[in-house]
Formats: sequence, C-alpha cells, structure tokens
Amino acid sequence: MTEYRSVTADVVADLAAILGERNVSCDPDKLIAYSLDEVQGPPWKESCRADVVVFPEKTEDVATLARYANENKIPLTARGAGTGLSGGAVPARRGIVVSFEKMNRIIELDRDNLTVTVEPGVVTAEINKAAADAGLLYAGDPCSGDASFIGGNVAENAGGNKVVKYGPTGSHVLALEAVLADGRVTWFGGKRRKDVTGYDFVHLLVGSEGTLALITKIILKLLPLPGEVVDLLVPFPDVASAVRFVPRIVTEGKILPASVEFMDHRSISLTERYLNRKLPYSDAGAHLIIQLEGNDRENMADEYERIGDLCLAHGALEVFVADNRNSRDRLWKARKSITESVWAFHPGKNVNEDVVVPTSAVPELMEQVQAITARHGSDYVAFGHIGDGNMHLTIAPDRDRPDREAVLKAIQADIYDVVKGLGGTLTGEHGVGLKRRDQVGLFLDEAQIDLIRRVKLAFDPNNILNPDKIVPWK
Ligand code: LAC
Ligand code: ZN
Repeated sequence: MTEYRSVTADVVADLAAILGERNVSCDPDKLIAYSLDEVQGPPWKESCRADVVVFPEKTEDVATLARYANENKIPLTARGAGTGLSGGAVPARRGIVVSFEKMNRIIELDRDNLTVTVEPGVVTAEINKAAADAGLLYAGDPCSGDASFIGGNVAENAGGNKVVKYGPTGSHVLALEAVLADGRVTWFGGKRRKDVTGYDFVHLLVGSEGTLALITKIILKLLPLPGEVVDLLVPFPDVASAVRFVPRIVTEGKILPASVEFMDHRSISLTERYLNRKLPYSDAGAHLIIQLEGNDRENMADEYERIGDLCLAHGALEVFVADNRNSRDRLWKARKSITESVWAFHPGKNVNEDVVVPTSAVPELMEQVQAITARHGSDYVAFGHIGDGNMHLTIAPDRDRPDREAVLKAIQADIYDVVKGLGGTLTGEHGVGLKRRDQVGLFLDEAQIDLIRRVKLAFDPNNILNPDKIVPWK
C-alpha cells in the first residue's frame, strides 16, 4: 500500500503560497462536506476525510498543485458538485480535495465547428442552456444535470436520459486539457471529428474517475437543436408489458426515441408522496416515458400518434402527451425526483444498483429481480433508463428485520449472478468509485484488473490521483 506524507501545517502553508489563502480551507465543516457525495449511509463516512480542500482558479494553479503533491506524495482527489453516487470524489486516502467550483467558465461556443469549450466546474444544465440559446443541442442529460458539474460528468462518463439516441457523456467529448500527475499540461484530442494519431486517450480519461489526470478544460460536441420535442407518458398494467413494449418503438414504430425511461409502481407512488402531487394512473403497474424529437410539428404529431397507437395495441392503459414546456417539465421533475423520493422513504443503507444488461435481456432481468426479492421477502423499487438497459434497483427489506444486512447482501449477490449471466455489468453510469470497488472482480477478470492497475501507475507512478479507487489496491 502506498505511504503518503501527512498534511501538516507546513503543507497547508505551502498550498496557501501556491494558490492564495482564499483558495485553501481547513474549515472542519467544509472538510466533512467536501468529503462526501450522495451515496446514502456510506461506510466510509468517518475514515475518508479531506485534510484540506483547495479551490484552483486556473489550469496553472492545478499544474503547480499537482507538481507539489507529486513531489511530496500527497493524495489529490478531484471533486465536482458532489452529486456522484459511487464515492468517486471521496478522498479514500485523505489528503487534498481539489474542488473545481471556481473553474466554471464557458470559454467558447464555436458555431462553425459545433463545439463548446468549458471548464470542469460549469453546471451541466448551463451548457444545455448556452447551447440552446445558440440554437444548438448539448445532448448530455444526467438526472442531476441541474447541479452536477461537467467535469464530474466526464470523470464518471455520466449517462442519464438521452443515451439511447445520443450516447453517454463520452460520446460528446472531443478533447480534454489535462494536468498530468507530475504537473505537465497537455491536450488530448482537439476540435476534430476524427483522429487516429496515437491512442484514444480522450476516451480513456472519460470515466476514469479522476484516477489518471486532472481535467481542466473540455471540448464538447454540439448538434442542431430539435425544433419539436414531445414526451409520452404511458402507463401499463404491469412491469412485463411495459418492458416488453420498449423494443417495438424502434422495430415497429421505426423511430429512434431520444429517451425511454421506466418507472415501476413503487417509484411512482414514492414520488407522488415526496412531491405531494398526483401523477396520472399512479396505480398502474409501470410507466414508460418516451421522448420523441423532430423539426416539423405535423410530422411529430403523426409520429407520436403512431407510437401512441402502438402502445395501446400492446396493452398500454392510456397515452398522455406532454407537448409544451410546462407539462414536459412537470413530467421530468417527477422522473428526476425518484432517487430523492426513494431516499426520503427508505433512508440509510439500502442496495442502490446501477446494473446494465443488453436491452434484449431487460424483461428477463426484471422477472428475475421480482423472483429474487420475493424469495427473500423484500420490497424493491425499480426505475431507470430502460432504452439502454440500465436499471436502478433499490432493495429495501423491512428496517426491523434482524437479518436485514444478510438479506441485502444475499439479494445483491443473486442479482449480480443474474446480471452477469445475461451479459450485463456492475455499473452503467454511476461508476465504481469506492462503493463498488470490491465487487469489480465479479465482473472483470484478473487480466483486466491487472491492466487497470498498470495503466493507472503509468499515468500516476506515485499513486497520488484519487488513490484506492476502481479496483482493490491492498
Ligand atoms: C437517475 C439517477 C439515479 O437515473 O441516475 O435518476
Ligand atoms: Zn440514472
């Protein structure tokens, strides 16, 4: 295990000299707040605590900081807005937390090249808005987009609601300015639509959870903004009919939707209680949200009627059309509030999964989840990005059960067996971080784990960048 230098008063004074007093904090409340993300009831709450938090203002600050930390062997853990769900931004070996909140400029929107260049601390929704104001689309749409930073989206390769059409964050990233562990600054990629000069380091860094380099600028791809967007909210009598309908949107409807989201009955009722608002057909077994995009109003109407009819022909109870800003915002507010709603009524330690399977295997996955939880006498909540096979499962056995911990573990193990058997994997968009580090070996073989360790050490020989993440290190 790597030995690190402790953060003494001398180190804090050095950091203040490098970054300015105003950009260094040892305030005890801040040290706690900047050491957590949104994982509920994390087992690392006390042990993984920043010794100091720093707030660089520009790339040169980050470069000087990295050089200093590397020479002194002090861990550096990059942090965005702290909306992560896997402990990715948690300082597992203490040391310095690097908050990117002051590097929050949209540097350039380039209409000729259809790109936007941003710093890592820009809130994702601001990029969506800046692009839309210019008549363009930034297609990244994580559920936490109103709060998350783009740097965190890139570090975790955040997915969200539009992956089915546009891919996860990584598919929008053309280039990254990165500070390497030794403080050198380099650009990976550029404003280029193709590039095979050397390895594709851009997409190695995307999703590397801050373990390989510190990202200081990002060039993202933009697209034309669709003129018309319609969301269909479609209740089905049960989970099976909803999940089995999904592939028909493409195969029979001949449309690639921007989004297909799934919410089971429990997600809907928890969200209703949490928002104190009725949702249509909330006693239905499951709902789909199907988002369609186009440019021509009449064409769009034809398309959503076709998809609506198809839904009804395959068991849907009703089809609600949200075709204006207000109704669409209300619908998505409900969808994006599910996680908070689940936490509100099932607080503390649960199993919050982010599994992903090939889309054709979703019906089987859902049947198996039902059978496994029933066998263990447990409740569960299921929702997620069904259009890309990524399901969020919260397993919530009764809080008073004496065997609660054991049941949680057993259900999780059974679900992982099923996911693996179906050709799926551990996490689709939330990342491994600390939360899933010790389960990676169930899904990646020894050859891959060994390669992950060697790539990490090639980028970061002193193991200072977000150490102890992604694979076991001890
Ligand atoms: C969502 C988050 C939990 O899909 O990823 O709501
Ligand atoms: Zn999600």
